[in-house]
Amino acid sequence: MARIRYLGHSAFEITIKNSDGVDKKVLVDPFITGNPQAPVKVSDLTGVDLVVLTHGHGDHLGDAITILKQNPKAKVVAIFELANYVASQLGDSERAIGGNMGGPMLVDGLKIALTPAMHSSPYGSPTGVVIISDYEKVSIYHAGDTGIFATMQLIGEIYKPTVALLPIGGHFTMDPVEAAKAVELIKPKYAIPMHYGTFPVLYGTPEEFKRLVEEKGLPTKVVILKPGEEFEVTG
Ligand code: NI
Ligand code: MN
Repeated sequence: MARIRYLGHSAFEITIKNSDGVDKKVLVDPFITGNPQAPVKVSDLTGVDLVVLTHGHGDHLGDAITILKQNPKAKVVAIFELANYVASQLGDSERAIGGNMGGPMLVDGLKIALTPAMHSSPYGSPTGVVIISDYEKVSIYHAGDTGIFATMQLIGEIYKPTVALLPIGGHFTMDPVEAAKAVELIKPKYAIPMHYGTFPVLYGTPEEFKRLVEEKGLPTKVVILKPGEEFEVTG
């Protein structure tokens, strides 16, 4: 059983078993300082194994460097240029796992695949990420910041996400209309909305997203998490 805890905005703490059946704690886009929804303090984030970053905007890179400093065994996983930037800030290139969009990287007994995202980034290309546990038969797709694109269908076909974490706020990313269409393309078992409500400019609401997915008659279940809430998922 994997656990997905929402930390507000696009930040998640995922606890998932690796190929040896050992729990790994993975933070994705840990934006805590300046995140009005954050249910934790940066100093609460201990026992972290991996920090995964989708792109270099401040609301995603967030507190990654501080968290890596306070978790000296943790590694950063991101696209090559962003991983190298974080490593240079840490002064430790050994802790950067820089990859690119393609097949998954094998990291600590997990598979981590970077996927395309229609967005921008100050360090390399922006990405989404799929975190795969063959042990749990669970696959979690975090779309990062993105507009909709047709090859989301391939992400669905290849990785068969158990859960898709999708931005719905609009302005910088998909809003509920595009995100509901993305669900149709990806066909995850569960969809969890993110990147809404943090700032006034992000107008999309999770209720509208849920309604639009249900109107399409899709089998996907929309799960709305409040910051601090956790969702347990089995494959
Ligand atoms: Ni962004
Ligand atoms: Mn963002």
